[in-house]
Amino acid sequence: MNNRYHIHIVISYLIIGFLWSSCKHKEEYHSITDKIEAKSKNYHGTSISSEKYLEGIETIEVIENGHTFLIPERKGELKSFACTECHTKPMHQMQSKDSTKKAHWNIKLNHADLGTMNCVTCHNGDNPDALKSLTGNPIDFNNSYKLCSQCHQKQYKDWTGGAHGKRIGGWAPPRASMTCVNCHNPHAPSFDTRWPARFNTQKIKERK
Ligand code: HEC
Ligand code: HEC
Ligand code: HEC
Ligand code: HEC
Repeated sequence: MNNRYHIHIVISYLIIGFLWSSCKHKEEYHSITDKIEAKSKNYHGTSISSEKYLEGIETIEVIENGHTFLIPERKGELKSFACTECHTKPMHQMQSKDSTKKAHWNIKLNHADLGTMNCVTCHNGDNPDALKSLTGNPIDFNNSYKLCSQCHQKQYKDWTGGAHGKRIGGWAPPRASMTCVNCHNPHAPSFDTRWPARFNTQKIKERK
């Protein structure tokens, strides 16, 4: 055994070792982007969906402000739809002269100033089965948010982006959002201020 033979063995081991380690290196990834690319080859998006929360809710698709989403259908929820079942004549001819109302006694308008807003601001006397825009165009009852958006642009824009209102189901697609009339009664849209759930005895003392 001389020194040269020894060096040969050492070098051979080094070469085998290098080949083995570079081989192993191939099975892993050269860079993090390679790894992401390889791992995402058979990945077809998340399997989480909000669909199961929407079972039994009839929805319609809307495209507003560049956002596409679902909202609940409304016409099926309205007790007195279709309006034309009773309103066979233009509305002004149906209005009774006596002060005791025969229909819609439960609707008391408490929205804007009664001098500037009445029933026909939103309803069409000649075609009650549709709502009416300020310019006189029909708006389907399912798309009543369009009616609101004429006067409440800020809330409408926030709503299309998801910042005003609430989702039905979860954050996973498909996006389904409640529409304005799911929360606001169009005839009296403001919410009453509420007292805090807990009775504040300190405040009572202060008021005395
Ligand atoms: C069951 C029958 C019936 C149905 C359904 C019905 N209406 Fe009426 N509506 C009446 C009658 C009757 C009057 C007249 C009420 C009165 O003055 O006593 C009336 C009056 C009205 C008026 C005038 C009220 C006022 O105070 O000046 C509006 C607006 C109106 N209806 C809208 C609608 C709309 C919108 C629908 C559908 C969503 C509808 N109605 C469905 C029977 C009906
Ligand atoms: C600010 C707009 C607006 C005004 C003003 C207004 N309505 Fe409505 N009304 C609506 C909208 C929107 C709906 C549909 C609500 C929904 O989808 O739940 C509706 C629904 C109704 C319905 C059907 C309710 C049901 O549950 O079947 C009747 C009846 C009605 N309105 C009558 C009237 C009468 C009468 C007046 C005047 C006293 C009036 N509305 C004023 C917007 C308005
Ligand atoms: C023709 C214009 C007009 C239309 C259409 C209209 N609103 Fe209003 N709304 C007003 C005015 C005016 C007020 C009272 C001033 C205010 O508080 O902003 C008001 C008040 C409100 C309020 C109470 C605001 C507060 O600060 O308490 C809510 C909520 C509301 N509207 C929701 C709706 C919804 C929902 C619709 C559609 C069904 C609608 N509005 C349609 C004009 C309109
Ligand atoms: C999930 C329920 C929900 C939906 C959907 C919803 N709102 Fe509201 N909205 C609220 C609540 C809660 C408030 C706050 C009331 C308060 O602070 O007194 C509010 C407040 C408002 C106000 C009063 C101004 C303010 O910011 O306090 C207006 C106007 C309004 N909403 C209009 C709309 C319109 C228009 C739509 C549809 C495009 C809509 N809302 C959809 C629940 C809802």
